[in-house]
Amino acid sequence: MSVIAQEAAARSERSAALLGVALGVAFTICFVTGVLSHLIQDPPGWFAWPSRPAGAYRVNQGLHVLTGMAAIPLLLAKVWVVHPKLFERPMVRSLAHGAERLALLPLVGGSVLLLVTGLGNVNIWRPWPFSFRDGHYAAAWVVMGALVIHVAAKGAVTLGHLARRAAPAPPSDGGLDRRGFLAAVAGASTLVVVLSAGQTVWPLRAFTVLAPRRTDIGPQGFPVNRTAASVGLTTVDLDAYRLVVDGPGVRRPLSLTYHELRALPQREAEVPIACVEGWSASPQWRGVPVRDLLDRAGAREGCALRVVSIQESSRLREAEVDAGQVGERDLLLALEVNGEVLDPDHGFPARLIGPNRPGVQQTKWVGRIEVT
Ligand code: HEM
Repeated sequence: MSVIAQEAAARSERSAALLGVALGVAFTICFVTGVLSHLIQDPPGWFAWPSRPAGAYRVNQGLHVLTGMAAIPLLLAKVWVVHPKLFERPMVRSLAHGAERLALLPLVGGSVLLLVTGLGNVNIWRPWPFSFRDGHYAAAWVVMGALVIHVAAKGAVTLGHLARRAAPAPPSDGGLDRRGFLAAVAGASTLVVVLSAGQTVWPLRAFTVLAPRRTDIGPQGFPVNRTAASVGLTTVDLDAYRLVVDGPGVRRPLSLTYHELRALPQREAEVPIACVEGWSASPQWRGVPVRDLLDRAGAREGCALRVVSIQESSRLREAEVDAGQVGERDLLLALEVNGEVLDPDHGFPARLIGPNRPGVQQTKWVGRIEVT
């Protein structure tokens, strides 16, 4: 078989169908995990995220980023396989055919936007003029809508290809046949995952080439996204520092110095820290249980919290803790990590840490807990 004929076979409808199924699965996983992450960060009234299992957010976001990265070779291969069809004439054969072709624009354009912004975001490279979360979220809905139209148009053909056994491949004369091509694409996706997963799966950390962070590299043995220097907090005046617990939900507002916080009974817990950007680690934290602070302040049953940082230069300066998570015994105002006083980059003098919360909600440099 000539190389040209093998290329044609590789670009066969069967290749397009198999790659389409793989992409459909990958995009569905990304969509479900992405929308879940969105709901956790901006919960509507009907949504509550539990504090157990402690590592569920870590799995969700690790899966999101790894599946998204695995989709990149799949999308490139799919576009390569089907691109000759884009130049077929007549361009539009019927109204339905026209609608199906029109849906390709948001499908392909939106997919490229999702993969590029997603990859840029985890590498802290955001040259676009819009908010990452808003753009990525809107693109996800557009792509999934266009995907539904695409599946409706191509579902029957795809199922037909999946149901039939593939025709035996003719002997190769050195070029890449369809099976070889698909195996190479699957290999590329697998390699992308293996070379990135070390940012959250510690046995693979030695192979972390494609992800910018490793579970074990950073001050006190794990990574940092926002440093103390980036928010102007490399030194904190401990004489002036107070942890205030107040708000309409308490009977006895508290104002505690750092030394008073250290003198309170402390609790130790291994709680994962899982960044929205896909990396995660499992440090050992030590600090004052938030539940104890609330008891001292006479907080009402069923209260919720707004935890506020002393840094004022980042949008991440406050986070909510809903009523369901407030009773969690491992929700700590952490003062130490991995046996040492918190590094400024990890939130010295005190940071919030709670099981199953996204990293952006584990507020650093905490100065106030408002009880509502
Ligand atoms: C290379 C591929 C991708 C990477 C690296 C990636 C990365 C990310 C990251 C880091 C976030 C968290 C953003 C934040 O909360 O600050 C996120 C959120 C999200 N992603 Fe992706 N993503 C990728 C592909 C996709 C795909 C293919 C879809 C949908 C089919 C998708 C849908 C979403 C959604 C819905 C969110 C929630 C956005 C929000 O919180 O408003 N992502 N993604």
